[in-house]
Amino acid sequence: MILVTGGTGLVGSYLLYELTRKGHTVKALLRPGNRPYQTRKIFNCFSSGNEQLIDQVEWVEGDVLDPFSLNQAMQGVDYVYHCAAVISFNPRELKQMIAVNVEGTANVVNACLENGIKKLCHVSSIASLGQAEKGEMIDENAKWKTSRTNSGYAISKYGGEREVWRGIEEGLNAVIVNPSIIIGAGCHPKATNQLFHNIENFIPFYTSGVNGYVDVRDVVNAMILLMESTITGKRFVLNSENLSLREFFTIAADILGKPHPRIALNGRLLGLIAWLDEMRGRLTASRPLLTRENVRAAMAKSYYSADKFRSTIEFTFTPIQDCLREAFRILEGNKK
Ligand SMILES: NC(=O)c1ccc[n+]([C@@H]2O[C@H](COP(=O)([O-])OP(=O)(O)OC[C@H]3O[C@@H](n4cnc5c(N)ncnc54)[C@H](OP(=O)(O)O)[C@@H]3O)[C@@H](O)[C@H]2O)c1
Repeated sequence: MILVTGGTGLVGSYLLYELTRKGHTVKALLRPGNRPYQTRKIFNCFSSGNEQLIDQVEWVEGDVLDPFSLNQAMQGVDYVYHCAAVISFNPRELKQMIAVNVEGTANVVNACLENGIKKLCHVSSIASLGQAEKGEMIDENAKWKTSRTNSGYAISKYGGEREVWRGIEEGLNAVIVNPSIIIGAGCHPKATNQLFHNIENFIPFYTSGVNGYVDVRDVVNAMILLMESTITGKRFVLNSENLSLREFFTIAADILGKPHPRIALNGRLLGLIAWLDEMRGRLTASRPLLTRENVRAAMAKSYYSADKFRSTIEFTFTPIQDCLREAFRILEGNKK
């Protein structure tokens, strides 16, 4: 029996689909009062007949901040995939992010140890690898550096990953994946892939930033392969391509039949706009549309290497052009 946390999110939905498709018996943690609409949508996006597949998922009420609910959820479970997290670049959500991503992960690790779980797969992030020196390729050996420019999200993911390493020290079999920006047609309202929904509006603009991108289907397949292997106590960067924002938007523009990005955005000006928007958010108690953390992320030039994963497991990552085309196809279908 497998338990998945974060099953209503982007990664969790695709993972549940892939696990049930392969015939695994799966439980998924569902926060009280929530409904798995997003997951159902993802299942429905694939070929017909999958309506019954989602009914094979046993939804169990729980919250990663509630250790009792985790212990209950892990009854009869052998393997755990921990995908639940809060992703935000809004400094006002830092407290919640630290709670869910660090304390929540510690609770998952403790529950795994207490319930004799055979193996845990933890979804970390490239954010927990820290920032690169100019032009340097980042891989699993990167060392975290304390810096004023680390985002709250990065700090929380680094803290969460440390909890998994602590669990490994205490005897837990665990494997960690560090995906780059995950591209997939998710619909979760809090996900970073909200940006993805807005790609169509942002296409005329670009910044000088470079980042890594990976297909959500590659992420879940990599997780399953690692769980089915004897590999433990290791982390793996999952990344298909490093692209400038201009290259990324150009690919999207070609798929959507739109003009290529042509307006370069200046980092200082964007930073000022973000600062003003954060002030507006504070004064009006609303969520800022742009934060200085967003701007830092959009201006940074970060290159990632997934060579360790490629050489450990024979794996070919989907080109970003193909995964964007598939994501747009699904999003288009969902609009109907
Ligand atoms: N998206 C990316 O580009 C990206 C890149 C690298 C790494 N990651 C990592 O990949 C993992 C999955 O990300 P995602 O994109 O799938 O995120 P997502 O779509 O935002 O989904 C987050 C999931 O976490 C759940 N969750 C939040 N707080 C929780 C709590 N207190 N207890 C239980 N569940 C809770 C949410 O449940 P509700 O529906 O109840 O809110 C949702 O199912 C995360 O660890 C993230 O840090 C994501």
